[in-house]
Amino acid sequence: MSDFKPRLKIVSMAVLVAMAGITACNDDSSDKTATTVKDDNYYKSLAESMVAQMTTSEKLDIASGPGMGGTPINLENNVSGVAGYINGVKNDKLDIPAIKLADGPAGLRISGTRDGDSGTYYATAWPIGSLLASTWDTTLIEQVGKAVGEEIKEYGVDILLAPGMNIQRNPLNGRNFEYYSEDPLVTGRIGAAMVNGVESNGVGTTIKHYFGNNSETNRNSINSIGEPRTFREIYLRGFQIAVDEAQPWAVMTSYNKANGTYVNQRRDTVTSILRDEWGFSGLVMSDWFAGNVRNDASSAAAQLNAGNDLIEPGGQKDNLQASMDSGDLTEAQLNENVVHILTQVQKSPSYNHYVFSNNPDLNAHAVLARTAATEGMVLLRNESALPIAAASQKVASFGVNQIATYKGGTGSGDVNAAYTVSIAQGLANKFTVNTDLETYYSEFYEANKVYHAGQFGAAGYYTCAEASVTDNQALTDLITASALSEDVAVINIGRQAGEGADRASTEGDYLLSANEAALIEKVAAAFHAQDKKVVVVLNVNGVIDTNSWKNEVDGILLAYMGGQDTGNAIADVLSGDVNPSGKLAQTFPASYNDVPSSATFPGVDTDGDGKPNDIYYNEGIYVGYRYFSSFDKAVSYPFGYGLSYTDFSYANAAVTDNTLDAKGAAGSITLTATITNSGSVAGKEAAQVYISAPEVKLKKPTIELKAFAKTSELSAGSAEKLTFTIPAKILASFDPSSNAWIVEPGTYKAYVSPSSDVSDVAPVTFTVAKEIRVSGTTAGALALPDGVDAASFTTVSE
Ligand code: BGC
Repeated sequence: MSDFKPRLKIVSMAVLVAMAGITACNDDSSDKTATTVKDDNYYKSLAESMVAQMTTSEKLDIASGPGMGGTPINLENNVSGVAGYINGVKNDKLDIPAIKLADGPAGLRISGTRDGDSGTYYATAWPIGSLLASTWDTTLIEQVGKAVGEEIKEYGVDILLAPGMNIQRNPLNGRNFEYYSEDPLVTGRIGAAMVNGVESNGVGTTIKHYFGNNSETNRNSINSIGEPRTFREIYLRGFQIAVDEAQPWAVMTSYNKANGTYVNQRRDTVTSILRDEWGFSGLVMSDWFAGNVRNDASSAAAQLNAGNDLIEPGGQKDNLQASMDSGDLTEAQLNENVVHILTQVQKSPSYNHYVFSNNPDLNAHAVLARTAATEGMVLLRNESALPIAAASQKVASFGVNQIATYKGGTGSGDVNAAYTVSIAQGLANKFTVNTDLETYYSEFYEANKVYHAGQFGAAGYYTCAEASVTDNQALTDLITASALSEDVAVINIGRQAGEGADRASTEGDYLLSANEAALIEKVAAAFHAQDKKVVVVLNVNGVIDTNSWKNEVDGILLAYMGGQDTGNAIADVLSGDVNPSGKLAQTFPASYNDVPSSATFPGVDTDGDGKPNDIYYNEGIYVGYRYFSSFDKAVSYPFGYGLSYTDFSYANAAVTDNTLDAKGAAGSITLTATITNSGSVAGKEAAQVYISAPEVKLKKPTIELKAFAKTSELSAGSAEKLTFTIPAKILASFDPSSNAWIVEPGTYKAYVSPSSDVSDVAPVTFTVAKEIRVSGTTAGALALPDGVDAASFTTVSE
């Protein structure tokens, strides 16, 4: 039996006042009852009174969107290019406008131009999620969110279908670029900051894809199989933190099954865990056509029954009606779903007839996007190669990616931006560049580019394989000549990825292509012979191999995909105009095969149709650095790692407060440490706290990230004292035997460290006298499917 008790909701008195005599008035801000708190309880009460006045047919229209290409009911001002809608209602009593949902997460994905309209509606293309997380700066991410939210509001959209919060379980997931990290704390905190920023504008966010959508291959039916502890500690926890710290308007359930059942049809996941345990009060929507709605007429009702309130893009009204007729869906359940939806709808700009300007401050946002890009780029290697003292230095830039620069990935995580600054342009804006090389690569690109139509209405894009240096006299001559005439070489390597497909562990994707490897080798030989440095810029969607070639070059800047100003942001960092402070939120392993999930990715084909059906999360909680540190496995670059043009020293790490024994589940640990800029230029440092916890009943990873903070910009010689608070609920592990989150007793080591490599860090300790039960959970939730037990998972090891 579960000892779990649903959270009590605080109902303000004002709700009761406001409810008296309600019809379906829109949110009237002139209704200034002094004590009115317009929280979800307030809107819920109003939603209940609206639902009481609706016919079943009207309610079904709300629970199922209009369908792809369908006409939304009571839509007032359409916005071209949105991904979906929530239908409205219009009759003599109710006038609820339809509301508009648009992707995310790269920014607001709407059409940049419209038929028969000379206006432009471009949105800012922000850096990809992985780059934003590498800033480790929740204040900056909240600012980014605020700007994204302004575009949503001023372009007439209501809810953003972002941020993407799946865990980067394996480097080859095609959508990793949209996601933040392999670590749930980083995912949760960065996600919460984004949600808070966007929603500060009075528009909504949708944290997605809840949960276990960690690959794209056969994504519509893949079955993610894992133990409840694995799911709770790794794959659900980021969502839990975001709900706890930001209470988003919406959650989008994922395409996949978890332990045998579509996530959006699992009541334990969508209602018991999300609402009852975590206190989520928003609406839950399906991913587009998820849950096999196209082939299974009963799926839509199964989703509503699970607590997945809204079917997107919809078109499921008839199926839902049939399920009501057969008794598989009750009016009471439908009412509950529609109340959840209308609770959020009332907060939206469309509902409140907001007159949008179509004129967000794109200039200010461009500046912020460029800043964010520079703050998240990670300097992986620097053997006295960087910075390149601007202007006076002459740069030889190699690689077709300087022309075919990627601002972001493809699919729904793409944005119709007004422009993309290529790396070639960015370098030319800052340095004296070798124009013969630029011309060579421009012409090569034009002659060899390959068009990809793009998916899901995203704009098309081009890729171009790297030029060969073998039997290529023109390029060989350019390498030889530029090694004599220029001061430094920059080699650009690019990787595109997107929704609907996973990446490959092969040459040209995870590995360098033969042409890229040869280019690095030849350029390095020529420039090193002249005692000149060689820097590689990685304009990539995520992890690629670095181990096999990193020692051939003097500097590596992991630029990820920096949004519309990618080229300028790269030049900002290479020149030292911005001192890099990004750190990895994902491990760069020594080899792909070292990643524990490489053995199971992207799953096994159990029915012989050539597509994987089941994917076993064998490695359990040992994902990313949790695995590499626990099993003492060398990596190319560890999680949390990143260099700066200055140096930082860590001192005086101390536990300053421990209320765990006194306050139990409400207790916390406080640590402080002083970070000093011991180098010669100004810079920022992201400090991380890893905990090594005692193992009483539960085995645990050797270290786990439990807090992080970034200093402000410290001038050379100056210092900042950082404070880290770790609440019991963040410290806790999930104990399957008692179905509870617990903090085990014993001595804990805390490492305040510049990265997850804590080998040189002296830990401080604190103790917990007796086990703390932080919270109980739903009995039997996420149980393994029939025929699967603990022995079905191959245990990871060295
Ligand atoms: C994606 C979602 C996206 C939705 C609407 C789906 O294919 O998985 O992330 O929000 O489409 O575009």
